[in-house]
Amino acid sequence: MEIETRFGWRENGFLGNVIVSPVSNDHTLDIISHSAAQTQRLGARLGELARAGDVFCLEGELSSGKTCFTQGLGRGLGVLESIHSPTFILANEHRGGRLPLYHIDVYRVRGADEAIGIGLDDYLSGDGVCVIEWAEKIRAVLPPERLWIKFRHVDANKRGIFIEACGASYQALLDQFRVSAFG
Ligand SMILES: Nc1ncnc2c1ncn2[C@@H]1O[C@H](COP(=O)(O)OP(=O)(O)OP(=O)(O)O)[C@@H](O)[C@H]1O
Ligand SMILES: [Mg+2]
Repeated sequence: MEIETRFGWRENGFLGNVIVSPVSNDHTLDIISHSAAQTQRLGARLGELARAGDVFCLEGELSSGKTCFTQGLGRGLGVLESIHSPTFILANEHRGGRLPLYHIDVYRVRGADEAIGIGLDDYLSGDGVCVIEWAEKIRAVLPPERLWIKFRHVDANKRGIFIEACGASYQALLDQFRVSAFG
């Protein structure tokens, strides 16, 4: 399949050469990131645009880049503290940025009911930005409107990042992200 390379320039720096697949359409965007730093920069672009109440669902196997992307997203929101996956609790809350960041990881959660039982709903209905790693495990209880972001290994330093907007509000956000990241 043919691929097209676009160069993402912005006032605050060069995004790096990112490969965007021509099969991307209005409500999806398929990107190849070439490094962890580039994945963080993409996350930062989204963090700059994120709005109160946004839900970002991250899917993908171990080490596919979900936390790396979230670190950038936090940076884009203005969070200064370091971001690591919550290990033994459901979520880490970071409040130092433009909006609260609720960084949720359901890897160890046995299913959707357990996630609800330990407070997922409070985060989903909160006034911060929810980022949920391993979201595919609790798909049944996630709001139908969301941004779904699927990570995949391509090689040691490359990751596929497939973004799908569900709902008009996330469509608008994805449109803005496309412009912000790729011009
Ligand atoms: N292009 C890339 N994008 C993101 N991470 C990359 C890339 N290339 C290499 N890496 C490395 O892959 C690893 C990604 O780890 P990360 O913790 O973000 O994965 P994860 O999907 O959150 O995994 P887990 O399911 O264990 O939480 C890091 O060690 C990072 O340096
Ligand atoms: Mg992680």
